[in-house]
Amino acid sequence: ADLHCFKNEPDTNFDLKPNKIWADSIRRAWMRHKEDKPYEIPVQIGTRHSLSEKKRLYLDRSQNDEVCVCKVNMASHSQVRDIVMLAEKDASEWRKSSLDKRNRILHKVADHLAAKRGHLIGCMSAITGKTFNEGDVEVSEAIDFCRYYPISMSRFEALETIKISPKGIVLVIPPWNFPLAIPVGGVAAALSGGNSVILKPATVAYPVAWEFVQCFWDAGVPKDALQIVCPDSRESLGYLTAHPAISHVILTGGTETAFRLLESNPTCPLSAETGGKNAIILTASGDRDHAIQNIMTSAFSNAGQKCSACSLLILDKSIYNDTDFKLKLIDAVTSLHTGSVWEGGTVVGPMITSENEKLLYAINHLEDGEWWLVEPEFADEKHYMLKPCVKWGVRPGSYTFTTELFAPLLAVVCMDDLEHGIELANSSDYGLTTGLQSLDETEHALWKEKIEAGNLYINRGITGAIVSRQPFGGMKLSAFGGGIKAGGPNYVSCFVNIEEASLYD
Ligand code: ALA
Repeated sequence: ADLHCFKNEPDTNFDLKPNKIWADSIRRAWMRHKEDKPYEIPVQIGTRHSLSEKKRLYLDRSQNDEVCVCKVNMASHSQVRDIVMLAEKDASEWRKSSLDKRNRILHKVADHLAAKRGHLIGCMSAITGKTFNEGDVEVSEAIDFCRYYPISMSRFEALETIKISPKGIVLVIPPWNFPLAIPVGGVAAALSGGNSVILKPATVAYPVAWEFVQCFWDAGVPKDALQIVCPDSRESLGYLTAHPAISHVILTGGTETAFRLLESNPTCPLSAETGGKNAIILTASGDRDHAIQNIMTSAFSNAGQKCSACSLLILDKSIYNDTDFKLKLIDAVTSLHTGSVWEGGTVVGPMITSENEKLLYAINHLEDGEWWLVEPEFADEKHYMLKPCVKWGVRPGSYTFTTELFAPLLAVVCMDDLEHGIELANSSDYGLTTGLQSLDETEHALWKEKIEAGNLYINRGITGAIVSRQPFGGMKLSAFGGGIKAGGPNYVSCFVNIEEASLYD
């Protein structure tokens, strides 16, 4: 097993004509109509599926919530209990299976995901409002995880000085904003280590997880080794997260959720990647046009709903006061088409909710010195689609400076010099991603030495970490549990017990 043999799966170029035709066929398949009956997802307990009393409807935000895509049966307390019991039993003996077998299956999962690429993209568009490009990149990343983690796990097994064994049951709790790549990553890493996995997807994105879990089962992962569940209440969720049989939790979500989890199950090891309030610094030496491109993707892709998104732009004062730069930024921001993901040209799709209170507060309040360079404006009546907006004159300590908004709102801050900019960026309690736009190598060196974040990018956007090339993870309030990075060579070691092997047996 050699990590150098690993190759990233390429994304789709939607500008090519055959791919455009393919995208249209996905749209036709997934853009359902009012008269279409929603499909129904059961509660699955091992090989048995059943219905439940409580159901959740999934409405298409790109169609004003007027079309119901599907219905999910949510698991009752007793169904959740059965799921955990089944995982404890491990009747299929996944935990005893060889690493070779598990890894062969995971490679097959990657092939199944690749074959289902269009279906998965369409599902993400319908359920979470992802644009096709954003969904496409997630499929590539998910495939990468299924190929990369087995190779990295084999590296550990090959070490003569250690013995590895499964931890037991790993509970994976991913976020809704990367409904495919992040859960597939957690599940693949844990399965490769021989663990049984219970996947508790974000409720709003559950149908996406249901689709990709089929790829694992079809590839040969036993149905008791990977189970998926959507608990019907806080109580059934609390029962699951605090269950003593859970050996490890992988969480990607809000910082508050991580604190709550730690409270409910203080002795259970937790690997968590949480929030971010990420800055890009543009110095006087930076290429401004190039910077604007990187800022657009970092701040507004996925409607700004990424833990890695750039929400603070820190400008050298000479750029901050430059009218030409402001005009270029306005042009770039207002040219991003906001609308339904079923329209081919959409760059910014609907947000997951129209009731993001933090965002509404930041939109409705201007603090000292703040003004709108690009005013916030909704593109739809239901207020899911916020056109990208830019708040100028944001100062350290203000609401917009400190709060993770998870929306297409960029705050612009002025710095006196790079040292000052670094101080501003570091004043955040978070430390996930960060960027520097500068053509001066002395500035690069200073920034690298002093900036506090997990992922540093120079003259590149700060979202879209690539498996193996940019292992992803944060520091400070952005990471819990050691901060070993996802998509990096050591990530899988979190999900196995490592014993020193006796060299004298
Ligand atoms: N891994 C995701 C990114 O880098 C969150 O944007």
